[in-house]
Amino acid sequence: MTRDEAIEIVKEHVSSRNLVNHMIATGAVMKALAKKFGEDEAIWEVAGILHDYDYPETKEHPEKHGLISVELLKKYNLPQEVYDAILAHCDKKPREKLIEKAIYAADPTTGFIVAGALIRPEKKLEPVDVKFLIKRFKEKSFAKGASREQMASCSEMGLSLEEFYDIALTAMKNIHEELGL
Ligand SMILES: [Fe+2]
Repeated sequence: MTRDEAIEIVKEHVSSRNLVNHMIATGAVMKALAKKFGEDEAIWEVAGILHDYDYPETKEHPEKHGLISVELLKKYNLPQEVYDAILAHCDKKPREKLIEKAIYAADPTTGFIVAGALIRPEKKLEPVDVKFLIKRFKEKSFAKGASREQMASCSEMGLSLEEFYDIALTAMKNIHEELGL
């Protein structure tokens, strides 16, 4: 499945533009992490784009989140890593492979970075930098929904928070127009 095909099926299934953007952003961060580690960029990006596919079915049933996505996406015969990553992002599978660790850390990070852009008057990613994100990370009341524990788990990939934010922020800035930021 290509990036465009993944975005297409997500748009057909998920009505919230914000959520679609979150999935596209997570795909971009995953692609950048794959590049960093010499892994398959296309597979990692597709996993990121599809990771919240079952949101409409599971927003009231978090215990089924991820499991329904795998069911619904089975017909596309995706590489096993994609299904495993989808399960691992919401703790339905232990994090073993690098792609599983990457998606777990990347998921809250995209929302955290968007929140960083939106509190500034310009509402753009451009002025956001790593120093700003690190400062906000320590501020518990900022973007409370973005799990600090989950973002800090980038250490499981051998990345410092600074390195991880740098990769994620650059990846999102590269598609800022698509994200409307
Ligand atoms: Fe997500």
